[in-house]
Amino acid sequence: MRQLLPTVVDQVDPATAYAESSRGRPGGRPWVMANMVASVDGRAAVEGRTAALSGAADRAVFNLLRTLADVVLVGAATVRAERYGPVRSGARPPVAVVTRSLDLDWTSPLFAEAVQRTEVLTCTSADPGRRAAATQVADVIVAGEGQVDLSRALDELGARGRRVVLCEGGPHLLGQLVVADLLDELCFTLDPLLVGGIEPSLIVAPPIHPPQRLRLVSVIEDDGALLLRYLRAPAPA
Ligand SMILES: NC(=O)c1ccc[n+]([C@@H]2O[C@H](COP(=O)([O-])OP(=O)(O)OC[C@H]3O[C@@H](n4cnc5c(N)ncnc54)[C@H](OP(=O)(O)O)[C@@H]3O)[C@@H](O)[C@H]2O)c1
Repeated sequence: MRQLLPTVVDQVDPATAYAESSRGRPGGRPWVMANMVASVDGRAAVEGRTAALSGAADRAVFNLLRTLADVVLVGAATVRAERYGPVRSGARPPVAVVTRSLDLDWTSPLFAEAVQRTEVLTCTSADPGRRAAATQVADVIVAGEGQVDLSRALDELGARGRRVVLCEGGPHLLGQLVVADLLDELCFTLDPLLVGGIEPSLIVAPPIHPPQRLRLVSVIEDDGALLLRYLRAPAPA
C-alpha cells in the first residue's frame, strides 16, 4: 500500500494511516466512523453484494477498522444480504443491528456464535413476539417509536461504554446518520471498476442542505484502489 496523502510513503502500515488522535467526543455520544466501498461510478454493491468491489487492501482496512471499534453498527438489510456473522478477530466487538422488522435469523452465527452478545437496536412499534424472540439471543435496545432514533440509539451505546462506533452500512443506514449529522469520520474505498446497474450509491438520503463538507485526511493507493479517509469538516463560520 502506497500512501499519497498527507505525505508520500511507499510502503505504509495502514494502522499508521488510520490512527487518529481525537476519536472521542465530549459528553456521552460515541465517535461515529463509517467504512464503505464503491465502484468508480458510485455503486455500493454488485448483484446485491459488496464482494466484487472489495480487493485485498479494502479487506485489510475493513479488518483493521474493526480493531478500532467498540461496536460494529449495521443495517438489517446488509445483515441479510451479506449474511453477517460476529466479528471473529481482535477484541471481537459486538455487532449492533438496526431493524424495525426484526426479520432476522436468530439461529444464525451472528447470534448463536457471538462472543459478545449481538445487539439489536429497534423501536417500540416492532412486533412484540419478535422482540421476545430477539431477547433470547441478543441484547435488545429500544430507541424510538415508529423507527429507530439513531441519535438516541447512539446515546444508549455511549451509556454502555462504547466510545467508537463503526458503521459498516448499508447506504440507507449511513444516509440517515449523515442526514442527522451524526457521522464524524468516513473511510471509503474507491474500487477501480465501472459496474453500472441500479444498486444504491454510497449513501441513500434525501438532498442534504447545505451539503455536508468533509476534510480529506489520508489517501492510500493499492492496485488501483484508492482508500480515502475523511473527517467531518468544521461548519463554516
Ligand atoms: N459498499 C459498501 O460498503 C456496502 C456496505 C454495506 C452494505 N452494502 C450493500 O448495501 C445493500 C444493503 O444496504 P441498504 O442500504 O439497502 O440497507 P441497510 O442500510 O443495510 O439496512 C436497511 C434496513 O435497516 C433497518 N433500518 C435502517 N434504519 C432504520 C431505522 N432508523 N429504524 C429502524 N430500522 C432501520 C431496516 O431494517 P428492517 O427492514 O429489518 O426493519 C432497513 O430495512 C446490500 O446490497 C449490501 O451488499 C454495501
